[in-house]
Amino acid sequence: MKVRTNLFIISTQQYVTSESSTLFITFNKQVVMISWGDITQLLFMSADELGWGRLTNKDIMDIGCGDGSRSTKAIIDVFPTVQRVIAMDSDSENISEDLGNTCPSKVFYMKADILDSSTLAGYEGTMFAIFSDFCFNDFDDHETAFRNVYDLLTPGGSAAIRFPLKIPIYDWIKEVYAKWRPGVTPWAPRTQLENLSVHYYRQMFNRLGFTVRRCETCDLHLKIGTYANLKRSLAGCEEWSSVIRPELLFLFNEDAYARSLKYCSVSPAGICSMKVETLLAFLIKPNDQRYKI
Ligand SMILES: C[S@@+](CC[C@H](N)C(=O)[O-])C[C@H]1O[C@@H](n2cnc3c(N)ncnc32)[C@H](O)[C@@H]1O
Repeated sequence: MKVRTNLFIISTQQYVTSESSTLFITFNKQVVMISWGDITQLLFMSADELGWGRLTNKDIMDIGCGDGSRSTKAIIDVFPTVQRVIAMDSDSENISEDLGNTCPSKVFYMKADILDSSTLAGYEGTMFAIFSDFCFNDFDDHETAFRNVYDLLTPGGSAAIRFPLKIPIYDWIKEVYAKWRPGVTPWAPRTQLENLSVHYYRQMFNRLGFTVRRCETCDLHLKIGTYANLKRSLAGCEEWSSVIRPELLFLFNEDAYARSLKYCSVSPAGICSMKVETLLAFLIKPNDQRYKI
């Protein structure tokens, strides 16, 4: 039997402008806070290498914008003279009205699925720049997603896309399941289960017709917070309390927590972090439109 765990990575309510931005990992409604490297750094690097300049009077699409408080907000901060930010997400509940109110003339929200070209109708060939951070995580079919990115771009336009390939938390969950729910396989994304190499992605990008400016793996150290937080989150996790006998819950919690130590490192200040391997791709749609598929 295969089950999908209620593990989500969602963006935070507030954007942290200093050295880190914050993410939450939730186990059902229990939240573990994670922070990662500054997104603005990635935007500056994209602008530099892809010739975005300041995006003055240009449009950019933020695919999988979440509630907009992180990536969309960062785009507005880094490119204040941008014409429009099309903040796109497949889940309209994620989209934050607050952000639209803060910058109503620049941010246009759009409910669409990057895996379904019919939801992108009217935007084909219109985007000068596309940005996407931590959205392509769970896709089984990256080729369709990247083909749709290609189709959205205007000739000469470019995309900066980062997504995790390996998140140790899935290995930890697998180990916990093996002990506490033998016979049940927790869901994990395809990137976690298969070793999809940089070479695999580079070939895919070439096949789709992109000029590849950058295609590489890059490690991020996501801060999870204190172990006490992690333990509390596990203890309150409905996912487990509904399947583990109440008298075993304490033991389960101690065991799951102990197993998590293997997948994290702890700073002298007691903050644990997890190394996440991401794929970073800078892709250009050539002006000559050599579309191959
Ligand atoms: C980690 S979250 C938000 C990341 C956001 N870029 C940020 O920096 O905060 C990923 C988002 O991708 C969205 N998403 C997942 N699959 C999608 C798809 N097929 N098309 C568009 N958005 C998608 C989810 O709804 C979620 O809001």
